[in-house]
Amino acid sequence: MKYGYFDNDNREYVITRPDVPAPWTNYLGTEKFCTVISHNAGGYSFYNSPEYNRVTKFRPNATFDRPGHYVYLRDDETGDYWSISWQPVAKSLDEASYEVRHGLSYSKFKCDYNGIEATKTLFVPKGEDAEVWDVVIKNTSDKPRTISAFSYVEFSFSHIQSDNQNHQMSLYSAGTSYNDGVIEYDLYYNTNDFEGFYYLASTFDPDSYDGQRDSFLGAYRDEANPLAVEQGKCFNTAQTCYNHCGSLHKQFVIQPGQEVHFVYILGIGKGNGERLRAKYQNLAEVDSAFAGIKAHWDERCAKFQVKSPNEGLDTMINAWTLYQAETCVVWSRFASFIEVGGRTGLGYRDTAQDAISVPHANPAMTRKRIVDLLRGQVKAGYGLHLFDPDWFDPEKADVKPSKSPTVVPTPSDEDKIHGIDDTCSDDHLWLVPTICKYVMETGEHDFFNEEIPYADGGVATVYDHMKAALDFSAEYVGQTGICKGLRADWNDCLNLGGGESSMVSFLHFWALQEFIDLAKFLGKDEDVKKYTIMAANVREACETHLWDDEGGWYIRGLTKHGDKIGTAQQSQGRVHLESNTLAVLSGAVSQERGKKAMDAVDENLFSEYGLHLNSPSFSTPNDDIGFVTRVYQGVKENGAIFSHPNPWAWVAEAKLGRGDRAMKFYDALNPYNQNDMIEKRYAEPYSYVQFIMGRDHQDHGRANHPWLTGTSGWAYFAVTNFILGVRTGFDGLTIDPCIPTNWPGFEVTRQWLGATYNIKVVNPDSVSKGVKSITVNGEAVNGVSVPIQPADSVNEVIVTLG
Ligand code: NOJ
Repeated sequence: MKYGYFDNDNREYVITRPDVPAPWTNYLGTEKFCTVISHNAGGYSFYNSPEYNRVTKFRPNATFDRPGHYVYLRDDETGDYWSISWQPVAKSLDEASYEVRHGLSYSKFKCDYNGIEATKTLFVPKGEDAEVWDVVIKNTSDKPRTISAFSYVEFSFSHIQSDNQNHQMSLYSAGTSYNDGVIEYDLYYNTNDFEGFYYLASTFDPDSYDGQRDSFLGAYRDEANPLAVEQGKCFNTAQTCYNHCGSLHKQFVIQPGQEVHFVYILGIGKGNGERLRAKYQNLAEVDSAFAGIKAHWDERCAKFQVKSPNEGLDTMINAWTLYQAETCVVWSRFASFIEVGGRTGLGYRDTAQDAISVPHANPAMTRKRIVDLLRGQVKAGYGLHLFDPDWFDPEKADVKPSKSPTVVPTPSDEDKIHGIDDTCSDDHLWLVPTICKYVMETGEHDFFNEEIPYADGGVATVYDHMKAALDFSAEYVGQTGICKGLRADWNDCLNLGGGESSMVSFLHFWALQEFIDLAKFLGKDEDVKKYTIMAANVREACETHLWDDEGGWYIRGLTKHGDKIGTAQQSQGRVHLESNTLAVLSGAVSQERGKKAMDAVDENLFSEYGLHLNSPSFSTPNDDIGFVTRVYQGVKENGAIFSHPNPWAWVAEAKLGRGDRAMKFYDALNPYNQNDMIEKRYAEPYSYVQFIMGRDHQDHGRANHPWLTGTSGWAYFAVTNFILGVRTGFDGLTIDPCIPTNWPGFEVTRQWLGATYNIKVVNPDSVSKGVKSITVNGEAVNGVSVPIQPADSVNEVIVTLG
């Protein structure tokens, strides 16, 4: 069953049936003001942090995606009313038709009902901390119509998201006022003119307004049947205390064939409502702001465009996967319909991985994230939990308390800087390849010399921070020389403590390889020597202790008592995705073992929806292994199709030269391919999800937690760099694809360091891997690396496989 389709010309997903089994969301905002919005216009806005600066409310875990950013329309002759988005009024789909277009940083809602065609486009203009609702109402009937429009948002109580639920004082610490087309919402206790004020404004002169939610909705009613809309006008309420909303109402008489066009603005900052109300009276300003959003994404997407025989891959790589990856980099993990602002900050490992995917599209943010993470690294080399990276930013230290003196916690150093027992064993290692990738992309070689403080005092260059990360993992090893598992590794629920994690040792090896290449490039011979020896030791420990000969795969680790996790002898948790994929991806293991290990992955973990994380699921609690053994079978880290490491398998297969297998794995997980099975999938077909129920669960195939998952960054990185094989280096652009044998070829346009590379790959011998020749502008080059071309040049590159 399907509910929509991809419109690739406009980079939109079009929902044609709004009764989707779960709300399908989008992210509006490219800077600081963000709205998470569903296809029903349900959702919420925040400024910078979904925890501390929540602008509008949302009630998660309900059967409805409410409240939201709604426009109601009312036929004032009949009293009939509806909403431009299907919810909350939810007219019968036999009488009204709805279409939603989720685009990159905007959503367009369209409703056709009873001779009135209405559209509402939501987006956040660049340079403004506000969301614009561009509304057009057209009379498509043959008689004049009298139509009332009402906006509706429910303002958040306080700076702190949890106060919306938990704190009765919030009822008495905020208020609304109305002045000349603007409802201003004042967080009374917050004296900051900017963050203490939210507003809802309109470009029309309202006929009536409401700032008090309970007046607008009416007692024992909800967003589906607000009293104000039912009666045809608001109650003109605005005062201190209780619950607050933003409703501005206007009646229009619209002649047949004519339309009215106006704008609502939802935003933050005292005085901004008046300013933007005046600015957007000129509708050309609205068009130009919208064009700014389009241009923002045109520029980013243009950095890498592919045309291949796989339409789903092209659709996702050219727009959606990049968009999702960048959403993760910009907004991290705490703002979705699942995580609704319970925390602020960055997941250390998540951000370190996300950032590897977008240095071409958003170098500034990639750099900022790397610096944020390095500031949260301690001298010993491991990373801290960055629930608020501002804690580590000296420039912001003074600013923070003024935000909200009474409520924003400022933790002590002891609280911020936890010890080894609370450390995740993988966090710091991801940074090493990410930093290398950032510098390769931007050519900012000086970055390695930039000095950045450690969280616990002292300062070091970026290069030395990288060494500290590698040295930490060399030191914190168990009996066998494999890295300790500590509080957790990549798998939050694998809590090995002093036990050992094969995935971390393989990751360590990968980070070491990237670092050794860097040290060679920088001419740091001593480091090349030291880290080559370190890598050899890691490899030996891995090959000696982690191979399960009977199974023909790599085990997942050892408990602190030395028991192996993931052997052929075990009936639960027998085969694991992370260890086997990273074994190959890292380059640590032989081709022979690598192939066997990936065959075991295919045999034991593959399903039509992607690769399971482990199989069979754990069914007996075992605290030596961790919380994973207490998670229901087939769910999340215990035997689900956990999406994030799936791309590691694509890279592994690409490194083994098995393009058909890599594509089989890619296609299984690709949400695009599940567009027509939403009765199974539920979730958005344009977004990867955190996990899909595994075969040990009765809902096998159901996708959960869209958007904020490391899958997107890894999927983008894996496809562009390893399947299509176009990857930047310190001194050239490598083109070394691994594709399905039935692909006759593909084309990529890559912009890098100011030059454009129009790459045409041809595959006359139907191979997966192996470059026979490369020409650049007709000249042959040796090997698989194209030398860096001059800025502003446009270069024709022909790659022949064989
Ligand atoms: C989600 C977390 O955000 C991520 O850090 C972790 O790696 C995965 N879960 C797997 O546990």
